[in-house]
Amino acid sequence: MTKRVAVLASGRGSNFQAVVEAIAEGRIPATCVALITDNPNAFAIERAQRAGVPVTVVDYAAFPSREDYEHELLAAMEQQRADLFVLAGYMRILGPAIIRAFPEKILNIHPALLPGFTGLHAQRQAVAYGVKVAGCTVHFVDENLDCGPIILQKCVPVLRDDDEDSLAERILVEEHKCYPEAIRLFCENRLEIHGRTVRIR
Ligand code: GRF
Repeated sequence: MTKRVAVLASGRGSNFQAVVEAIAEGRIPATCVALITDNPNAFAIERAQRAGVPVTVVDYAAFPSREDYEHELLAAMEQQRADLFVLAGYMRILGPAIIRAFPEKILNIHPALLPGFTGLHAQRQAVAYGVKVAGCTVHFVDENLDCGPIILQKCVPVLRDDDEDSLAERILVEEHKCYPEAIRLFCENRLEIHGRTVRIR
């Protein structure tokens, strides 16, 4: 059965675009029912409009507190009747109320080989640390940052003259393959979570 997938993004939206294209090409048995963004200036909005994906803006700056924002965001997410929420460069931490509302139904992509280099500027952290291999990780979201059970990881080499930007670009190429693939596996009901381990059927 076709799944309802909603994407949360805050900015450029290249991963959102990769997911939308994979759905349009029939590589994921899903419909993209919404782009939800906290940023009214996100370029992802233009991408959604071009692809005919409905946009919901929950403007973080318009709320007096984080609690008020999250309350509205939760309501916007519930309205989608989504089978899956995909965080694609969503630059805020989801509060526990939202995570508990959608257990095992939220995925994230992080531009590092977790559990290394969590949080912001993962590619900068990788270059500064001097690792020889970097990459990206798609994982289920739990209540700890960049911590839930891992679905897929792809690696890339770190080259001698890399800086944060060149490494980010190389990782992004893999993100655009890895995220649609993980979402496809989810939508085909092929992911089983056993503790920290995700088994692919
Ligand atoms: C990606 O590197 C993703 O891994 C990270 O934020 C970036 C978002 O890029 N979470 P985009 O908005 O999908 O182009």
